[in-house]
Amino acid sequence: MKNETAFQRCANPACGATYGIREVLTACQRCGALVDIAYDWERTPLPWKLSDFERKWATRNNPLHFSGVWRFKELLNFAPDNQVVTIGEGQTLLRGEPDVAAYTGVKSIRLQYEGLNPSGSFKDNGMTAGFTHARMVGAKKVACASTGNTSASMAAYASASAEVNEGRKLEAVVFVGSGRIAMGKLSQALDYGARTIQIKGYFDDAMRRVTEVSQSLGIYLLNSVNPFRLEGQKAIMYRVLEALNWEVPDWIVVPGGNLGNSSAFGKAFKELHDLGLVSRLPRLAVINAAGANTLYRLYNTEKLRWNGGHYDRAKVEAFYAQMDAEHRDANTLASAIEINRPVNLSKCLRALEWLNGVVGEATDQEILDAKAIVGRGGIGCEPTSAASVAGVKRLVADGTIGRDERVVCVITGHQLKAAQTTVQYHSLTGSKLRKELGEFGVGSNPYANKPIQVPNELPAILKALES
Ligand code: F0G
Repeated sequence: MKNETAFQRCANPACGATYGIREVLTACQRCGALVDIAYDWERTPLPWKLSDFERKWATRNNPLHFSGVWRFKELLNFAPDNQVVTIGEGQTLLRGEPDVAAYTGVKSIRLQYEGLNPSGSFKDNGMTAGFTHARMVGAKKVACASTGNTSASMAAYASASAEVNEGRKLEAVVFVGSGRIAMGKLSQALDYGARTIQIKGYFDDAMRRVTEVSQSLGIYLLNSVNPFRLEGQKAIMYRVLEALNWEVPDWIVVPGGNLGNSSAFGKAFKELHDLGLVSRLPRLAVINAAGANTLYRLYNTEKLRWNGGHYDRAKVEAFYAQMDAEHRDANTLASAIEINRPVNLSKCLRALEWLNGVVGEATDQEILDAKAIVGRGGIGCEPTSAASVAGVKRLVADGTIGRDERVVCVITGHQLKAAQTTVQYHSLTGSKLRKELGEFGVGSNPYANKPIQVPNELPAILKALES
C-alpha cells in the first residue's frame, strides 16, 4: 500500500484498517464499517489553487478534460488515466431561479441541475468512478439495487462504455422493488439492455438481495456502499464551486435517500479544506421526505450524532427493530428516496458533523408544490429533487437558513423521469386529484398549470387563448 497514491480505509476511526486500491470491498473486513478512498496527498500533483482546473476547459477534446468529473482528477486520483471510463458526464449547470427564490424566501438561491447528465440524474457522477474501478479490477458483471436512477445510470454505462472495453459490454443486473418505480427510470434500464429483476418488496429488500447475490456470484456491486461511487459524486461540489468562481456558498441542500450524495459532499469539502484549497466550509442540509424520514428521526428526535466516529449503533438497531415491529414502511411519492434503512447513514452523520449540518423533511404536498415552482424556471425536476427546495422553504421559515444566505440546492434528477406525477399534479382537480394522490396526503395543486380542453373549432380555440 505504501507505494500507492490512493488506498482504501475503514471509515470507522477506531478501526482505520487500510486496503489496497484494487481490492473490491463494500465494507471493512475487520469491523464491518463502510470504507473510504483515501489519498497520499503528498504524492498527488495538486493544483496550487482551484481555478487552475479551469485550464482544462481549453483541451476539451481530451475526454478526461471534457468530463465534469475527471476534469478534477487530481482530487480523485485513484486510477491510471487510460483506465478511466467516461461517457461525458457532468455537463451540468448552476442556475439562479427568481421564482424559487421568491417561493423559499431567500434572496440568493441557485439550483445545481444534475438532470443534464447522460442518464438524466446525478448518479452518472458516481457511476463513471465506479465503472473505472470495475475496469481496473477486470469485472465482467455489474449489479445494483435501485429505486430507479442508479439502475438507469448503471445500465447506460454498462452498454455505452463498450468502446473502452474492447467492444465488450459489461453484463448489467438490476434489482428493483416491485412497488413504485418511475416508468421513465425503468424504461431506461430495459432500453439499455440490463437484466432487470423485480423483487417483491421495497428498495431495502432489493438492496439486501443484491448484496447477497453479488457476494456469492462475484458480481461487482455498484450501489453507493461502493466507495468509488462517492468519489465521483464529490465532483458535483467542485462544479458548484467552479460556477461560483470558487466561492463557497453558505448552504448546500440535498435530498436524502441512501445518503450517498450527502456523504460525498461532506468528504469533498473536508478534503478541500484540509488541503487549504478552500478557506471555509458551507453548511449542509439533508432533506428527507416526511414519508421516508429515518435520518430525520434519528438526527432530530433520537439526537444521533457521528460523535467523532463513536455514534450510538445500538440506538440505530433499536430504531430499526421498532420500525419493523410497527410495520412503519417508507411511503412517499418521492419514490427515489422511499428508503427505510439508508446504507450510508454513518458517513452522512460524519458529513453532518464536518459541515455543521441539519436534517429537514418535507411532505409530499410540499414536494409537489416546490416541484411545480422549479418547473416554472424551465428546467424541471423529478419529485424527489424538489425535496431540497421544499426543505429550504421550511428552514427559512423556522429561521435556520437566513434570508441573506447564499443557498445551493442540488436538483438531482430530470423532470421527464416521472412525467406521470407531473401531469397528474397539473391536470387533476378536486376528487380526481385526491383519488390519485390523496394516499400521499396531496389534496391540492395551487401551482398547477392546467391544460385547457376545447372542441376542435376555431372560435372555441381563439376564445381559450383570450384570457
Ligand atoms: N434524488 C434522486 C433523483 C435519486 O434517485 C436519489 C437516490 C436521491 C436523490 C437520493 O440520493 O441516495 O445519495 O441520498 N436514488 C437511489 C437509486 C437510491 O437507487 O436510484 P442519496
